[in-house]
Amino acid sequence: MIYIANWKMYLTYQASLDFYNTNQSNLERLVALHRATLVICPSILALAPLAARMKESSIKLGAQISSPHASGSYTGQVDAHSLVQAGCSYALVNHNEVRTLFCNPDSLIIGQIIQLANRNITPIICVGESADEYQEGRSLNALTATLNILSEAFSQVNVSYLLAYEPTWAIGTNCTPTAQELSLVKQHITSVIQVLDIPSPMGYLYGGSVTPSTISMLSKTNLFDGYLIGRASIDFQTLEKIVSWSKEAV
Ligand code: PGA
Repeated sequence: MIYIANWKMYLTYQASLDFYNTNQSNLERLVALHRATLVICPSILALAPLAARMKESSIKLGAQISSPHASGSYTGQVDAHSLVQAGCSYALVNHNEVRTLFCNPDSLIIGQIIQLANRNITPIICVGESADEYQEGRSLNALTATLNILSEAFSQVNVSYLLAYEPTWAIGTNCTPTAQELSLVKQHITSVIQVLDIPSPMGYLYGGSVTPSTISMLSKTNLFDGYLIGRASIDFQTLEKIVSWSKEAV
């Protein structure tokens, strides 16, 4: 199983390093015990110093943001090449919180995927409907629309990617879709991927209020190869419960 710890902006630069220093051996033990892949997505500033500390580690690093451009006059952006140099091997794409804040146009998602692929960084591509789309029964249409954007990117570049189903209304809310809804969504995504003739992801993830209380139901669906964990990933004991319990339920 693969676990993406999205630290968002919960931990400062120093708190990120402290978390790793304090929990380094526990994290290693957890990953080894469950033969898990753990990708930590910290604050962008913490990437390089964490990478230096993780030289001998099996834990991977991911970026929360990346530029759709290779280089140039793009104030405030971070290029994929620098991310590799900072020790990054994964990057989130189309996360709802970024999309909402920056009103991402489709070209941004396509550009990011292309730049990441060019640097062999694995994109963790988030897809998921908004609360309104969910209420109005348009979840599957929303997913199709995003997969159409992805197909444009995949027509330009070969890339191995992870696909994370993250319904916007489930992020940070303690609500999750039901097992039935998840099953319907997974079926829909796999069939649209086939129809569009785009490469299948290396793994399907679920994200949105993954906690020790929700992991048992999520795991029992047997639908996912891993989880994208926000708030619950900044506390080692909580993360440990999620990893241990999800493993048990499979
Ligand atoms: P959450 O966040 O686990 O805090 O709901 C998930 C995410 O946004 O990646």
